[in-house]
Parts: sequence; structure tokens; C-alpha cells
Amino acid sequence: VKLDPLARFHPVIAEKGVTVSQEAIASQVGADILAAGGNAVDAAVATGFALAVTLPRAGNIGGGGFMLVHLAEENKTIAIDYREMAPAAASRNMFLDAEGDVDRIKARHSVHSSGVPGTVAGMIYALENYGTMSLKQVMQPAIELAKKGFPVSRSLASSLVRYRDYLGKDSASSNYFYKADGEFYQAGDLLLQKDLAATLKRISKQGRAGFYKGKTADLLVAQMRRNGGLISHQDLLNYKVVERQPVCGDYRSNKVCAMPPPSSGGVHLIQMLNILEGWNLNALGHNSAAYLHRLVESMRRAYADRSLHLGDPDFYPVPAEQLMDKSYAATLRKQIDLSKASRSVDIQPAPTNLINESPETTHYATWDRWGNVVSNTYTINFSYGSGISVAGAGFLLNNEMDDFSSKPGSANGYGLIGGEANAIQPGKRPLSSMTPTIVFDPQGEPIVATGSPGGSTIITVVLQMLLNVIDFDMGIAEATAAPRIHHQWLPDTLRYERGISVDTLNILTEMGHSLGDKPVRLGVTQSIASDKNKIKYAASDPRREGAAAIPE
Ligand code: DON
Repeated sequence: VKLDPLARFHPVIAEKGVTVSQEAIASQVGADILAAGGNAVDAAVATGFALAVTLPRAGNIGGGGFMLVHLAEENKTIAIDYREMAPAAASRNMFLDAEGDVDRIKARHSVHSSGVPGTVAGMIYALENYGTMSLKQVMQPAIELAKKGFPVSRSLASSLVRYRDYLGKDSASSNYFYKADGEFYQAGDLLLQKDLAATLKRISKQGRAGFYKGKTADLLVAQMRRNGGLISHQDLLNYKVVERQPVCGDYRSNKVCAMPPPSSGGVHLIQMLNILEGWNLNALGHNSAAYLHRLVESMRRAYADRSLHLGDPDFYPVPAEQLMDKSYAATLRKQIDLSKASRSVDIQPAPTNLINESPETTHYATWDRWGNVVSNTYTINFSYGSGISVAGAGFLLNNEMDDFSSKPGSANGYGLIGGEANAIQPGKRPLSSMTPTIVFDPQGEPIVATGSPGGSTIITVVLQMLLNVIDFDMGIAEATAAPRIHHQWLPDTLRYERGISVDTLNILTEMGHSLGDKPVRLGVTQSIASDKNKIKYAASDPRREGAAAIPE
């Protein structure tokens, strides 16, 4: 890879460590921890808790996520799975109404939509195993931000205006995010979150018990009981973090490591890279019709497989190795007609026996001066999750249960379909698309950390980030800014951003692709790259305001 760091777009340059996240105050918290001698994990945990205060639409303690950690000294990369778990009383058909249809309100906007939160357990697990600082130390900034307040950004102010109706349905959320007289916070006003501060304080004092037991647990369970929700004290006690091996694949001369199941991200990222490796993409030209056609056809096939084969590996035999196999990719590549679009109705997921031969979200990254790297994506699913806050505890609950397949063939909030592999079962984790990723050079040194929100589009956004850097030699900021496309098999629609030329779109239409009716915005990455001299280049996605990359 020839990283051309300055290209036409400017990343933030750091000689030592750097933190990049969707919210500037939280990035500063991470940078301060690095400057105080903390490592990338200390900074990541501090940033995670800070985002729970300053970016309530996605930062959280009421949700879950995935943290990919590269440890420089041990030269080891691990994946921490702190995804939500279905409560013990959850059942396969819990979101079906009397007619057998999915009750979307219940699945997305009720206390039933929440899985048992994993964020607090995940952050504490990361810190205890791979950090160097105390929980008190890394949580202090978040506690202060909640207790003393922080100036509301333009982005938060306008988002709270947009979500007024959504959050207004819940009295606790109304209290937490709107003024006592119901007025909106203006940019620059202080937002104080006293209940959240108290909850964070309990966590910093008691560790896991400050959330999964005692007062916080009592408040959460009481919130459930008022509305017939399922999460019990026992569910909270039973929450478990799972440390997993990341899935890694070779792409050209690089190694790409990403999140394994229960995320579908890593498996399909590597599957698509494997298909694409068979072509000289650079020679086709960036975002040319010939290039985009190959992308779409690879995406179409990967998402078809996702619908059948991906789910929580602790409950279902996910054929991850087979899906990431180079020869399977070669088979798929051969099926692609280079002159014409396939129709998704003609593409089926690989049959189980065939491959069984051999089963609002936010991303941030920290990189320290020693070369430790954290790539973390966590979420409460939709912006502001279920919209329901735990009254008295100050935080929003996720609606991650909608990431399960409530009924075979019925689409979830991202238009994704699934079946048995991702059916609801007690204790199971809903399938995710979150794709925190780290790329390594041929010598095994980390060179890029990236990830994105965007539901089903996350995997294809991360794919294009990697292709931009590896195949097209773009610097990290240019790779971020470049227009993106997305296809997910079903619906059979090619979504695209402004900036893909009309000429190109016309050619794609002639080839038989069905284009979305207007450009959309795809993903919001936060990325860091590093060069041979260990200089870091960090870039926040210009698609959404409020983000920042801050050197220590
Ligand atoms: O885990 C998943 O795939 C989804 N819950 C992610 C949701 C998301 O990215 C929302 N952000 N725009």
C-alpha cells in the first residue's frame, strides 16, 4: 500500500496517539487519557463512556457493541463481543401479532425491543484485561460531563428537534432531553444529566455491579415491569462478554481483521474482498461503471449468504470459514457476468450442505504511541434506540431485538431478512452488521483502523474504505470523502451517493441495475491510518457534523 497521506484532503496528523470519534468532546477525553500516559484501551473506554453522555443518539450504556483491539507488544488482535443478549423470557414469535405479522412498534419502539445491555460489561472487560488505568480514572471525565453539563453542539440541538416526537412519547426521555418547560436546548446551552451522572458514579465505584446489580438494575427492571418488559434481575446478572478471535483474511498483500459473528461484518467484508481480488480494480478506475458493477455483484452475493447463514455462533453453526474461503469466492466470481447485472431473484444463498463440506450506531478509534489500536463500534440500534429511557437512571435503552429475524423473510428496520440462523432465542445475540476493522501491512504492522454506523450499509461502506486505500492508494481523508454505493441483495436496488457521475449511473442502468430514485448518504466513518514512520493520519467523515480527530 502506498498511502498518499496528504492527497487532496486533509487528515489530522499525530506523532503520538490520536482519538477519532463522532463527537469532539469525547475525542478530547480520549486524547487527554493518551496524553496522561494511558494506552489505546484506556482511551477507548474513556471515550466510550464520554460518548454515552455527549452523543446520546448512539453513544450509550444501554446498548452494546464490538471492540477490536490490536496489542502491539504481544502482536495479537482480539475481538471483544459485548453485543446485547435476548432476555431469558424472549421467544421466537414474541414480535408476531394475532395475524402472524411482525408488530413493528413492539419490535422497535417498546420495552420489548431492548436486549440486555452489554456496553458497561464490555468496557470494564476491556479495561481490566487490556487497559492500564483504573475504572475511576477513565470514567471521571464522563461523570463530570454528565454532572456539570456540557455545551450542546449544533448537531445535538438539531437532532433533538428532529426526534422530538420519538423521544416525547417517553416521559423520562422527555425530561432528560428537553427543558422543563418543554423547550428545546439551543446550541451552546448546558445539558446536565444528573441521573446519568449518578449511574456512571455507581459504575465507577462498584464496577459491573454498579450497573447489573443494585440501584441501576432495580431501576431498569422496574422500567420493564411497568410495561410488561422481559429483562429481569437474573438476565442482568447473566450478561456475559465474549472474547473472540477476529476473522482475518489476506487481501492482496495486506491482512484485514474484523469482527466475527455475531456480527456479519467481518465474514462478508472478507468474502467480498476475496471475490474482488480476482480483478485489477485500479485499472478499471475508481467509481467507474465497470468497477461499481463488480462491487454490486459481489455485495449482492454476500448479502444473499448473510440472510441464510449468519447468526449468533453460540446458537447456530455459522459456516464462517467456508464463506471466507478463496475458492468459494472464485466460484462466485465466475458466476458474475461482467457486462450485465444479475437479478437478485435469481441469486440464492449457497445451500447449507454445499458450503458445509469443508454454518444508530457510532464508530470510534484510538491509536497510542506504542502502536496499540482500538477500533470500536457500539450502538443502541436506531438513533436514540427504543426512545425509552430508564427513569431515574438517566440512559436510553436499545432496540437491538429488531436485529433478530422476527419472521422468516420479513424485513427488519434495515430491510434485512433472515431465518433460522438469526431467529430469537433466550440468551442469543441478534445478528449485527457492525464492522470495526484493522488492516495490517505485509510486515504485520497495523496501517488502518476504520468502521461506521449505518445498519446494513456498514459492511459495504467499510469495504469501500479499504478498497480506496489499498487499490486506489488514497489517503485516509480522501478515502473517506469519496462517494459510496450500496447493494444488499434485497431489495434489488443500487443505492448511491451524490458524486457518482450521471454518465456512470446511465451505464449501470443500461447494464440492468435498478438505481435508487435519488442519491442517499452512506455511512459515517471514523478512521486512523499510520505510515512507516508511525505518523498517524486521522479522518472523521465529513458526512455528519460534530466529529473530531484529536491528537494527544
Ligand atoms: O448491529 C447492527 O447492525 C445495527 N444495530 C446497527 C445500527 C446502526 O448502524 C444505526 N446507525 N445508523
